[in-house]
Amino acid sequence: MVAVSYGRRFAALSLAVALGALGCNGNDPIPQEVIDGLPAEVGSPSALHRPGQPCLSCHSTYGAAAPAFAIAGTVYKENAMGALAAAPNVKVEIFDSAGPSRFACTNAAGNFYIEKDKWSDLTFPLKVRAGQRSMNSIIGREGSCGACHKLPSDDRPDNGAGRDSAGVVLVDDGDTDPICGGGAP
Ligand code: HEC
Ligand code: HEC
Repeated sequence: MVAVSYGRRFAALSLAVALGALGCNGNDPIPQEVIDGLPAEVGSPSALHRPGQPCLSCHSTYGAAAPAFAIAGTVYKENAMGALAAAPNVKVEIFDSAGPSRFACTNAAGNFYIEKDKWSDLTFPLKVRAGQRSMNSIIGREGSCGACHKLPSDDRPDNGAGRDSAGVVLVDDGDTDPICGGGAP
């Protein structure tokens, strides 16, 4: 009993620290406010749309966009000029708390996703890896990478890192995987 409650306290503490680092107070943002704050659709919805945005705000029971996702996001690289560019053909690996890991590949927009009905028993917390880079902290319950890895804005220039953002998910240029249609790993 004692060991269990200590374990829980440690888990809660590390989550609080992770959220604190992003300037969150532990309350979820109101979903409709997140959606209302997103830039408008460019063209028509497709697997390439809305790169960098928190996909599950819409692709969820709340947002009702089809298909619903278990997890989704966008991966970027810096080009030779230091500008952010989509990173296609990157392997994103998700290690959940219950079963074997799974992976998804980024498309031409850098977007990747796993549909909810293809991983209905996804069990948080998660560990994730994009290309050769691993996230050190664990993901407590958020299925959108873009909820924490926010796009650049006026108050978050360059890669989008700032008070409330870890910056976009970045991999090294050329960090593609043959299993995802890329060159040598
Ligand atoms: C603001 C809401 C919103 C966000 C954010 C959003 N989507 Fe969508 N998405 C939609 C809507 C609306 C559709 C059209 C389907 C529908 O109406 O249910 C769609 C469709 C799709 C489809 C299906 C396309 C097809 O051809 O059937 C994919 C795949 C997709 N989105 C991926 C993503 C990914 C990946 C992200 C994040 C990088 C994302 N979406 C972010 C609203 C959103
Ligand atoms: C709850 C907030 C949160 C979510 C959700 C989240 N991240 Fe992170 N991520 C962070 C923070 C904070 C860091 C920086 C510290 C660290 O590595 O833990 C980070 C770091 C990373 C890094 C390491 C960056 C580097 O350059 O070394 C990668 C890769 C990464 N995240 C990928 C992802 C992917 C892919 C997703 C979606 C599946 C995701 N993250 C979702 C908060 C989050």
